[in-house]
Amino acid sequence: MNEGQQRVEPDEPCAAGAPQGRHEPIQVTVHPTAEDACAAVAGEVLELVAARPTTALGLATGSTMVGVYRALVGALEERGLRMDEARTFNLDEYLGLPPGSEESFRAFMDRHLFTPARVSSAQVSFPASPDAQPGVESVRSARAFEAAIEAAGGLDLQLLGLGGNGHIAFNEPGSRADSRTREVELAPRTREDAARTFGGLDEVPRRAVTMGVGTILEARRIRIVALGEHKAEIVARLVRGEDGARLPACHLVGHPDVQLHVDAAAASRLAAG
Ligand code: GLP
Repeated sequence: MNEGQQRVEPDEPCAAGAPQGRHEPIQVTVHPTAEDACAAVAGEVLELVAARPTTALGLATGSTMVGVYRALVGALEERGLRMDEARTFNLDEYLGLPPGSEESFRAFMDRHLFTPARVSSAQVSFPASPDAQPGVESVRSARAFEAAIEAAGGLDLQLLGLGGNGHIAFNEPGSRADSRTREVELAPRTREDAARTFGGLDEVPRRAVTMGVGTILEARRIRIVALGEHKAEIVARLVRGEDGARLPACHLVGHPDVQLHVDAAAASRLAAG
């Protein structure tokens, strides 16, 4: 651990949703600043790309990831590395957006990582096309997405943010630990959180396709990032442990290699260990 980082162990590990017989607590690293947290996680991705250029990465969207991708793009440039043999799999995508929408997760990824890091379209997979309509088409694309992850040999590392209601990807409260990639309805809280990005609640899609919790749990490493005071309560609930059906992120506890990276503000409601 680097200077300035602090590790916090929960009082009681969250056992709900953990594979049978495993009750490892989630490992939490508290970084002094958001920038430090992003740099640490980006550094791990960079090392993976350096060690295994054909790595399969699970990627996330959301404001938390902006800093992670900025740090990753900078670190790639600094090391003179390219990601041109890697495969990437994004967690989720909205359904029913107008073609070319700037609010799609695909557009987010193009802006923050794919264009600056010169990742080509042939390398990237999403569980749905943002202009696809809910229904039959999403079932087909969800199946193809799962098959593509398998064909790539599984995910080496999955990046995750935390939703305001504890969702991971778009696995909302009530999602099962064994859920697979599928079409889902977004929770009211999730749509409210997205309203600002979309310029109004009415503009926020109601449905999306998300990687399942079970799919995420198959990644060899899982790295969760939570930044800012507004994430402090959800971070405390995750570390304290709760039923995974109520707090989907708790389904991850018990994974053999899951880490939570937070800044001091997001750690403000954790008891120091
Ligand atoms: C969306 C995404 C999640 C992400 C969450 C948090 O809901 N589907 O994958 O974790 O936003 O976003 P932010 O980082 O902006 O708090």
